[in-house]
Amino acid sequence: MKFTLQATDKHTQARAGIMETAHGTIETPIFMPVGTAGTVKAVHQHELADDIKAQIILGNTYHLYLRPGLDVLQRAGGLHRFNGWQKPILTDSGGYQVYSLTEVRKIREEGVTFRSHIDGSKHLFTPENVMDTQRVIGADIVMAFDECTPYPCDYQYARRSLDMTHRWLKRCCERFDATEPLYGYEQTLFPIVQGSVYRDLREKSAETIAAFGREGNAIGGLSVGEPAEEMYAMTEVVCRILPAEKPRYLMGVGTPVNILENIALGIDMFDCVMPTRNARNGMLFTRQGIINIKNKKWETDFSPLDAESDLLADRVYSKAYLRHLIRSQEILGAQIASLHNLHFYLWLVGEARAHIVAGDFHEWKSKMVKQLDERL
Ligand code: GUN
Repeated sequence: MKFTLQATDKHTQARAGIMETAHGTIETPIFMPVGTAGTVKAVHQHELADDIKAQIILGNTYHLYLRPGLDVLQRAGGLHRFNGWQKPILTDSGGYQVYSLTEVRKIREEGVTFRSHIDGSKHLFTPENVMDTQRVIGADIVMAFDECTPYPCDYQYARRSLDMTHRWLKRCCERFDATEPLYGYEQTLFPIVQGSVYRDLREKSAETIAAFGREGNAIGGLSVGEPAEEMYAMTEVVCRILPAEKPRYLMGVGTPVNILENIALGIDMFDCVMPTRNARNGMLFTRQGIINIKNKKWETDFSPLDAESDLLADRVYSKAYLRHLIRSQEILGAQIASLHNLHFYLWLVGEARAHIVAGDFHEWKSKMVKQLDERL
């Protein structure tokens, strides 16, 4: 993988760059739609690629390992062949899902034992087998196995967890570097900074992670319930330490405003279930603010979702019709709303990039953050 910085904002830490992977280039800052089980829920691959110009999507090791399982994925020739998405894929390691989705789990030095949320069967994830699994899935970017600390989290727990995440990272790197890609193209491993909301732990983690010298770095353990100001403070501390010449990925973030604020702090990559999950409940993100399409106010609003959008679905379907679909739990409602929200998120990061390159990101961001949280 190659990362080239093209522009750096004068007033903030925002950057515009290009990542080159085996499955194509990614213009940063970028938002990565979440495709947990090998599908971005309710969105076709061709809509992602052609209609909203997604450049990279996410998959989850935890889900794909449980279902369809490694045998199917290996026989398919990896996830790209299995789901037909030919652009870059990043897989999360399970270092978040084993904590958020499983109830019975034990964290030990060796790894984490947990029960499947699907059938209750017992499994063990270790740094080594998670690397092997991500070789089988075949993502372009694979994530280290970490512990995403909950919030709130006391200092002693956060410190001990961090030390273990660092020891696990060493094991991840050793295994990853000792194995070859299975499908003939390069994969790269990103480590993850943890440290909860403790400045000194975040600094220590960022220094440790930077010293591993991987091609990109991630920040985890944020957007887990802490106030936004604490999230921004941690991002700032960590971005000061992580090398400028490598991409920085903030995991699981966030709202449109969170994304703009973190771009300003030097983040290049984001993912979040929010645009798709909230779409299925009728929450639409727009330039003017947030719409709850289920509200009565939209019942007879036959104007298009967004008359000026370059997305066909935004011009063709009205607010009243989408309200009806979502309220009736029609599948098409989830499809239209998900596509709309992802299009908006990708538009937002694309605009941010254009303004970084043009040199007026700071002014543009100040204007945008005022309107994005409005309730319409
Ligand atoms: N997704 C959101 N936060 C995290 C994190 O801290 N670790 C991992 N592995 N994935 C995440």
